[in-house]
Amino acid sequence: MYSILQPAHSYVAYAALIFLAIASVNGIAGMMANRSFKDSDKKIGLFALIFTHIQLLLGLILYFISPLVQSFSVAMKDSNLRLYALEHPLINIIAIILITIGWSKHKKTADSKKKFKMFAIFYTLGLILILSRIPWNMWFS
Ligand code: HEM
Repeated sequence: MYSILQPAHSYVAYAALIFLAIASVNGIAGMMANRSFKDSDKKIGLFALIFTHIQLLLGLILYFISPLVQSFSVAMKDSNLRLYALEHPLINIIAIILITIGWSKHKKTADSKKKFKMFAIFYTLGLILILSRIPWNMWFS
């Protein structure tokens, strides 16, 4: 199971980050241009939501089977292992909660500018948090 989930989490990360970056930039640009919110804008936000949620699911299962997160107390003393055992999961869960809040808030308003604003704020915050706790050297090695 680990041999399937580990690479899956590694590859879905690309889709999650690309769609999240597109949705954030689109939110900021749409808000600044003051244009009307279209179905394509909604789809961009939805794809980012779906891929970050798939990543959450894969990450949660990985957390319990990854050899990198075997012993929490041992991991706390090593900054690299602490990233996997605490910082990466915790910060990413907070980020995905923010993205989900942004999605539901955009649905609750009919105003185009406010819809873009919700993506601009919540998706961008989520993206920054996720980028801050990616194990970059492991990912690209
Ligand atoms: C959108 C959110 C997330 C992104 C973009 C992301 C991305 C990544 C990346 C790029 C890696 C390194 C993969 C590699 O070494 O090839 C990784 C590893 C890992 N992630 Fe995430 N992740 C996210 C959310 C989560 C969550 C929410 C959890 C746990 C609740 C989690 C748990 C893990 C674990 C345990 C590993 C280490 C797996 C191993 O190599 O044994 N991730 N993640």
